[in-house]
Order: sequence, then C-alpha cells, then structure tokens
Amino acid sequence: MKIGIILNGVTGRMGTNQHLVRSILAIRDQGGILLPDGSRIVPDPILTGRNANKLAELARTHGVERFTTDLDAALADPYNEIFFDASGTPHRIPFLERAIAAGKHVYCEKPTAVEYSEALRIAEIAEKAGVKNGTVQDKLWLPGIRKFQLLKEQGFFGKILSVRGEFGYWVFTGEHEGQPIQRPSWNYRAEDGGGMIIDMHCHWRYVIDNLFGNVTRVFCKAATHIPRRFDEAGKDYNCTADDSAYAIFETDTGVTCQFNSSWNVRVRRDDLLTMQVDGTEGSAIVGLRKCWTQHQSVTPRPVWNPDIDSPIDYYANWTEVPDQLNFDNAFKIQWEMFLKHVVIDTPFKWTLREGAKGVQLAELSIKSHDEGRWIDVPQ
Ligand SMILES: NC(=O)c1ccc[n+]([C@@H]2O[C@H](COP(=O)([O-])OP(=O)(O)OC[C@H]3O[C@@H](n4cnc5c(N)ncnc54)[C@H](O)[C@@H]3O)[C@@H](O)[C@H]2O)c1
Repeated sequence: MKIGIILNGVTGRMGTNQHLVRSILAIRDQGGILLPDGSRIVPDPILTGRNANKLAELARTHGVERFTTDLDAALADPYNEIFFDASGTPHRIPFLERAIAAGKHVYCEKPTAVEYSEALRIAEIAEKAGVKNGTVQDKLWLPGIRKFQLLKEQGFFGKILSVRGEFGYWVFTGEHEGQPIQRPSWNYRAEDGGGMIIDMHCHWRYVIDNLFGNVTRVFCKAATHIPRRFDEAGKDYNCTADDSAYAIFETDTGVTCQFNSSWNVRVRRDDLLTMQVDGTEGSAIVGLRKCWTQHQSVTPRPVWNPDIDSPIDYYANWTEVPDQLNFDNAFKIQWEMFLKHVVIDTPFKWTLREGAKGVQLAELSIKSHDEGRWIDVPQ
C-alpha cells in the first residue's frame, strides 16, 4: 500500500539528507517495508516548503513527483496520512498544530520546541486528537550504540559506574575565506532556536534514559566561547546562544553521566561523539559506528610516575567489537518503525511526550547554569 507523507522543511540539511534521501527514498527504492501479511508499505512523499524553485529542484534531482508550497492543500488531501517536520525549531509547533488539526499522524525532528511547556502541550494535543506521533531519537540506532546495548544486555560491564561523553568538533566561524562554516548560522542564535544545550541535551536525555538510567538531576555550566561568527552570506553576527555546555547528569540507577558538548574543540579522540562507559567488570568506548572494549582481565596496571615516558600504551588492550549485522541508517530504522506503527499499530515508544523530556532537560540545564546549582528533574 502507498502512504502519502508530507515532508515539510525538507530542503534543509536534515530534511534532504537524512529524511528524504536516506530514509523515505531508500525505503521506496527497496520496495517498501514488508509487513507480516506479505504486503508492503511504500512511502509516497510530497515535499513542502516556502521556496517553489528549491522544492522543484530537489524533487527533480531525486525523482519525486509531488511538491508544493501550498501546505494547506497538502494537509487537506486525505491521501497524505502523515505529516513530518524538519523545518527550523521555532516553526515546529505551529506546523504540528495545523497537521494535527487536519487529522494527520505527526512525526518530527528534535527539539520539538524550545520551551518545555510548549513541547508538552503539543504532545497532549496529539494524544487528545488520537493521532499517532513521534520524535526523532536517531542516536539510539547508531551502530556504536547498538553494539554497546548488546554488550550491556550480555552483562559485559558488571555494574556500570559512570559515563563520560565527549561531543563536538571545531565549527569554523567563517572569518577566513578558505575555511567556510560547516553548520547553519541559526545554530548560534538563540532567537532562531539555536544553542548547544537545546540542540544536544535533547539527545543526551533519551540516550541516558534508554541506556543508563532515567535522569534525575542535572548540573550544567554553559558558555558562549565565540561571541561573533559569520553567516551564510558572509555577514558577521552576534552569537546569542550557548556554543558549549559542561554537564553532569545523575540517574535513578546510580550511574553518573558527564557530557561535554562543544563546537569549539579540536578532535583528538576516536569519533565526534564518544562515551566512555566504565563498569566493575569492563569498560567501553562507544563511538557513532564503532565500539571498543577492555575487560577486567586485560586491564593494565598503571603506576603514577611522571618522571618517565609511560611504559604502557593506553590504546592497546582495547578490542573493537566486530560488525555482526548490516547496520542500516539510524533515521531510516526509526522511520520504518514509525510507518509500521501508523499502518499496523506496532508499538512505538518515541512519542512527542518522550521528545518533550529532551526539551525539559535542556530547559533545566539552562536553569542550572543560570542559578549555579543542581536542579532536580521531575519524574
Ligand atoms: N536529529 C539530529 O541529529 C539533528 C541534527 C541536526 C538538526 N536537527 C534538527 O533538524 C531541524 C533542521 O535543522 P537543519 O540542520 O536541517 O537546519 P537547516 O537550516 O539546514 O534546515 C531548516 C529548513 O527549514 C526550512 N524552513 C525554515 N523556516 C521555514 C518555514 N517557516 N516554513 C517551511 N520551511 C522552513 C528552511 O528553509 C530549511 O530548508 C532543527 O530543528 C534541528 O534541531 C536534528
């Protein structure tokens, strides 16, 4: 069966790459999603946005037949059962409200809003309307994280004690002609929905909740280390959003999780996101695609002596977990789950209400920074 899907804000980075090309078109090109009764769900996208030329170009490049700037008409067409939004964060809620009012099932990028009250409100509106709903929580299906989850299920770590997450890389300011910016400039303006905390603490919430324990308290220090950057047009602007956050999260399992997130760090580690997980029986370095382990039995025995070069190579005695599956794109895996949830009502845990928890943690992290103290996360 074909299912009409409105893809809104799809000319952006995430909309085009992850959602249109790597998810929806990849699912279409593989012949759809096979259901237990032998039938298939085949997504039929309609691209919506503000700029007709951009939409036409995107549609032509990827062989998509349907596109329009008239969102109301797309919403009025009962063939389009699902509305998906990857537009800018400040626009998300009004779009979702319109789609829910039109009776569509809704799925969207994170963060669902910049304020927790709004994120919760839209979850409640969707629940009341009885439409299926979801929020992108893509990191859960990254190969590195799936490898970690398997190790955890198999008891590799013993008791998990702590997690050190290092996230980030150097984002060029645009100041030097030969080093163009590699992220949209809105990310550095609070008034446009930007900021490290609202961006990444949404991710850390579901990563920690699902992998380590429910977040119960947060302590966070935010910073805007670089106050001026240059935008897509080469014009300088004031950075009004935080570009770095140093946070500690406590969980109901007793696992302490510490995450440094920064757009102002040069990388000398295994990946752009790494989480070091230490347990009584073993440790792991979890990257985006790879995962390395060190068991208690092969743990070296360092002795503190700064007068000599280390006799131990600290990168030795780590074993890379092999790929035992063909890992599909993380966004595509979640899309397939959402489509099955809509069509055959399979369970789907990653709702707008779950997405709201990410916005809640971001909001409480900012409160912690502002007030300089630990903040409880209401359960
Ligand atoms: N899941 C993830 O890992 C992840 C990563 C990056 C971004 N995101 C989220 O995805 C969203 C988009 O981010 P991006 O990096 O693709 O940004 P982007 O600036 O590349 O794309 C935003 C798109 O929205 C469109 N848009 C803006 N206002 C609109 C409006 N009023 N109506 C219709 N379209 C509108 C823009 O034209 C653009 O096509 C953000 O909410 C961001 O937080 C998620």
